Amino acid sequence: MDISFLLNGETRVARIDRPTQSVLDWLRAEGLTGTKEGCNEGDCGACTVMLTDAAGTRALNACILMMPQIAGKALRTVEGIAAPDGGLHPVQAAMVAHHGSQCGFCTPGFVVSMATAHLNGRSDDDDILAGNLCRCTGYAPIIRACAAARAEPAAGWIDDRARPLPAAATGTDAAFRPADADALAPWYLAHPEGVLIAGATDVALWVTKQLRELPEVAFLGGCADLQQITEEADGYRIGAGVTVAALRAWAEGVHPALAGLLRRFASEQVRQAATIGGNIANGSPIGDGPPALIAMGARLVLRRGDVRRQIALEDFFIEYRKQDRQPGEFVEAVLVPKAAPGLQCYKLSKRFDQDISAVCGCFNLTVEAGVVRAARVAFGGMAGIPKRAAAFEAAITGAPFTEAAIAAALPALAQDFAPLSDMRASAAYRMQTAQAMALRYVRAAAGEAVSVLEVRV
Ligand code: FAD
Ligand code: FES
Ligand code: FES
Repeated sequence: MDISFLLNGETRVARIDRPTQSVLDWLRAEGLTGTKEGCNEGDCGACTVMLTDAAGTRALNACILMMPQIAGKALRTVEGIAAPDGGLHPVQAAMVAHHGSQCGFCTPGFVVSMATAHLNGRSDDDDILAGNLCRCTGYAPIIRACAAARAEPAAGWIDDRARPLPAAATGTDAAFRPADADALAPWYLAHPEGVLIAGATDVALWVTKQLRELPEVAFLGGCADLQQITEEADGYRIGAGVTVAALRAWAEGVHPALAGLLRRFASEQVRQAATIGGNIANGSPIGDGPPALIAMGARLVLRRGDVRRQIALEDFFIEYRKQDRQPGEFVEAVLVPKAAPGLQCYKLSKRFDQDISAVCGCFNLTVEAGVVRAARVAFGGMAGIPKRAAAFEAAITGAPFTEAAIAAALPALAQDFAPLSDMRASAAYRMQTAQAMALRYVRAAAGEAVSVLEVRV
């Protein structure tokens, strides 16, 4: 299959023999070896590239990006960051001036992340660099370089938004690329063994780490209708293809507790690719989206052919890696309420950024006149599926909203969950943490500083 795209401003047609080929492998085989391979699983950012399409310009990890995902878009690598006359981009000049590089292995990835942020006028340096790992320089000089580069105007030569984009692909279309959900539905019905690929942040690892050959695949990135968030009479409809980055930006004003959790979902590069539909359909017991959405009272819209059904999100997860999804049925959208003022989400992981949860606890209590009138509490990492804490909810509903009453209900969590021990946490630690999160909720409501971002010596 032939894939057309802009590469550092020039039209290229790449002939690929399998649709799951990574952009990283293709670039390096083409001699563009500035894009480095570190982890090959989306963790280190050494392979960061810049991708521009109608939605804007974002930094992505090339190792977990498949070639069909860049069709019809503009790709820019570290080789395309300096000016056409060889002059340094402001972030490159600042990295030199502020000693932002030692061994240099991570530097191309940092430079691409920084140049993307510079183009987009972003100044949340900690956030945009959380997916770039540097083992030797230390982050202070790099953050200083980010700040210094901000004084310089955006570099027009890396701005691919004004350049005409080529048609997506020519030749045999081995990988199905539907234009909307109406085209996807009959294809999936006819190919129920096919693999749907949305952001590929999970699926790419099946290829790079498990060396799996995938049967027929369908790339959902062209389904613009799945990427919409729309307001409806009784809530919001979030399309399955909405990225975690887009969901986070939307949630800032509507569901700030959800936005706060998503800020800690993976890294900038992963959030810009990962979709909420993939996060749910993947069925992981430690995905961050499901516990928060379950606590909010979300409903899932599933579609098989022309038939749609709605279920409560918690009912989708049956047991470890088993979901209520029929062959040929896909996630079309998730429905969330307009408001969830009681929602708070707590993620425990070994690192603040770019880490999978050991435990993710999401609490949504309705308190009236000092009494808990309703409770929705859901956890990730405490069972084989994201799961509501039914016994704990029952124990606190009708109780006074006080630390003493919540503490008295904590043993109920042991009726709800029998967590596992694994490399992330022991069973006992998980249980203790889940209970501590419940206390944190009531203390936060009393005005105590409970976030590491709030605590000051
Ligand atoms: P894909 O990889 O495209 O697909 C995942 C699964 O869902 C596949 O089985 C696919 O067939 C299926 N699928 C996709 N869309 C649909 C649909 N519409 N209907 C039916 N099936 C569908 N996750 C977290 O929750 N928190 C984290 O902090 C986190 N950190 C990560 C860090 C790294 C470095 C990486 C690589 C991943 C991380 N993840 C994390 C996991 C991953 O990013 C998420 O699960 C993501 O939301 C998956 O979305 P996707 O669009 O990339 O899914
Ligand atoms: Fe580490 Fe791609 S090589 S994120
Ligand atoms: Fe060596 Fe960053 S300079 S890893």
